[in-house]
Amino acid sequence: MPVTSLQRGRLITLEGGEGAGKSTLLRGLETHVRAQGVDLVVTREPGGTAVGEAVRGVVLDAANNELTAEAELLLMFASRAQLVRQVIEPALAAGRWVLCDRFTDASYAYQGGGRGQPVERIAELERWAASGLKPDVTLLLDLPVATGRARAAGRGEADRIEVEGDAFFERVRGRYRDLAASEPARFRVLDASAAPDDVLAQAIAGLAGLFDGATS
Ligand code: TMP
Repeated sequence: MPVTSLQRGRLITLEGGEGAGKSTLLRGLETHVRAQGVDLVVTREPGGTAVGEAVRGVVLDAANNELTAEAELLLMFASRAQLVRQVIEPALAAGRWVLCDRFTDASYAYQGGGRGQPVERIAELERWAASGLKPDVTLLLDLPVATGRARAAGRGEADRIEVEGDAFFERVRGRYRDLAASEPARFRVLDASAAPDDVLAQAIAGLAGLFDGATS
């Protein structure tokens, strides 16, 4: 059955810590989903719009070391508010699917877990700035912090968030795993320490149910 404009699209998000292989998986998934006949939009956070990419520049610039945790949280949601309205909602309404490299779970993990921002503030921003939009499926690339950091080492200058220490990334990982445990129907936790082909196979298996009745 072809995708019709009456059928709402699906939102798939990709999450994980440093060195988890998110970029490699994103490319493989993009190819796989398109091969199923899905009209797919690929985007990222922070970023994905002209405004969002400008915000990304600010939050990731290591020179902005005075940025407060509150300002960081609001900037993440400023980028998200723009992306949801300008790109994601219109695409889903038109029956297109969206594959987003990070979404609101990253704010719960990094600003909530990592920076200690209160969960209820993040939840309020999610309801208001992100229209309460929840992904259909979230793929969480999980691996030990030390493994991820070893992989990410030598990729060039660390950005403003990558310069954080192991304790920060342990809190990020812990929060991601708690989120996954609290919403098992939405999350698929992938073993990101496996080889890239294996991780892609895990991700494809995790998406299997999404295609039922949605593609040609
Ligand atoms: P990435 O695109 O390489 O994953 O980099 C984005 C960085 O921004 C990464 O360190 C995670 C961080 N981030 C947050 O801290 N909060 C958020 O809400 C999002 C979307 C990303």
